[in-house]
Amino acid sequence: MEVLRLEGVSKTYYHMGIPVPAVRNVNLVIKKGDFVSLMGPSGCGKSTLLNLCGVMDYPTKGQILFNGINLKSLNDGGLTQLRRQKIGFVFQSFNLLPSLTTIENVALPLLLDGFPSKKAKEKASTLIELVGLTHRVDHYPQQLSGGEMQRVGIARAVCHQPKLLLADEPTGNLDSNNGVKIIKILQDLNKNLDIAILLATHSDVVAAATQKVLQMYDGEIKKC
Ligand SMILES: Nc1ncnc2c1ncn2[C@@H]1O[C@H](COP(=O)(O)OP(=O)(O)O)[C@@H](O)[C@H]1O
Ligand SMILES: [Mg+2]
Repeated sequence: MEVLRLEGVSKTYYHMGIPVPAVRNVNLVIKKGDFVSLMGPSGCGKSTLLNLCGVMDYPTKGQILFNGINLKSLNDGGLTQLRRQKIGFVFQSFNLLPSLTTIENVALPLLLDGFPSKKAKEKASTLIELVGLTHRVDHYPQQLSGGEMQRVGIARAVCHQPKLLLADEPTGNLDSNNGVKIIKILQDLNKNLDIAILLATHSDVVAAATQKVLQMYDGEIKKC
């Protein structure tokens, strides 16, 4: 079953009137159960592509289908719902809210979606356990290591059981030891929760742990 399909997708930014083609004519299919990595030099368009897949940005050309539904057929409410409920996003710099504890950070997307507080916290606790952070449940981000912060970021990204998890250099700010732990967690989520994953990385070790490696250069995917 197809989770995500990109057909002839391009994204051109304009910087001081000059076009910057960040993503060029990308065709890509992510299926249920896939674990795919995207490699390529800095500036080749990895983040732009992930943002397009995560409905955080829109293509200049081409179309994107999620679960067979063309994003062009959705209104703003439908796009927001899709972004919030079907897609999880993990950032290189974690993007946790500093004034919230581990459990509050993880439960936040559920509370925003109208979950009752008790239910949201129960669900968040289960995920915190899954990423091995039960002993850090009431800690604030500044009391956590980088690897722990990323584990909170992952628990938050999957709290609503998304179909697709996008991760933009999730181990980029971590030492190799913590990087390996993060990859192991992503592998488990892929397998046990059946979440398709697309991640961008510079690390050969991370890429080797995925099922398929795509190479990106100058906005294009070279190998599919
Ligand atoms: N908001 C933006 N405005 C203008 N240019 C951008 C913007 N975001 C990215 N770019 C440009 O698009 C290209 C691809 O960037 P990016 O997707 O961040 O690459 P990567 O993640 O592979 O490093 C780069 O040339 C970058 O400068
Ligand atoms: Mg990037």
